[in-house]
Amino acid sequence: MKIGIGSTRAVLIFSDFVIKIPRVRVLRLFTRIIETNRNGSLKRKSQLYSKKNIFIAVVRYLIEGIKANRREYFYFQKNKEKEGLLPTTLLIFGLIEIQKKGNVLEESSFLWKRIFILLRRENLHKISSFKACNFCIFEKKLKILDYADEETFQLLERGVFVIMQKINSRYI
Ligand SMILES: Nc1ncnc2c1ncn2[C@@H]1O[C@H](COP(=O)(O)OP(=O)(O)OP(=O)(O)O)[C@@H](O)[C@H]1O
Ligand SMILES: [Mg+2]
Repeated sequence: MKIGIGSTRAVLIFSDFVIKIPRVRVLRLFTRIIETNRNGSLKRKSQLYSKKNIFIAVVRYLIEGIKANRREYFYFQKNKEKEGLLPTTLLIFGLIEIQKKGNVLEESSFLWKRIFILLRRENLHKISSFKACNFCIFEKKLKILDYADEETFQLLERGVFVIMQKINSRYI
């Protein structure tokens, strides 16, 4: 078994499937509070999580990984027919998510370089979800393995699925 570390989830990687577990980053929370308090952006940053209450903001920050698991699972359930999604098969209370295992792309790979060119053409190359380690090959098709936020859903549907289809038909 290997371990993958994302910003919101830790991933246990087995030969056929992976288990995504939310990370509760208490230490990072404290360093963020100290940093943003020092540079005067604490209020603005906490309002990204809750406009009214800093305690609600703290709780929301700490449960980001649970929310990511839930969004990914339910997005897959609604969009099973979309070829570009790596299947997410089970969710237990947001705490355990099971997904198929894919072969993650390397940033230096030929395939990623082709994808990057097409993303850049659409001005999507700076979007944080569209990085090599969020894509993989599964059953001889290009798939996205990290689709856990609203912006990603929208951009996938607005053009990234089409880019992925092009890559599948041209290079895989
Ligand atoms: N289904 C999978 N198959 C193989 N490896 C995986 C899979 N899911 C995740 N990984 C590995 O674990 C890493 C972290 O997973 P993921 O991107 O889903 O977590 P995250 O917390 O959403 O990450 P991010 O930092 O991109 O927000 C991935 O970059 C990848 O290397
Ligand atoms: Mg990721």
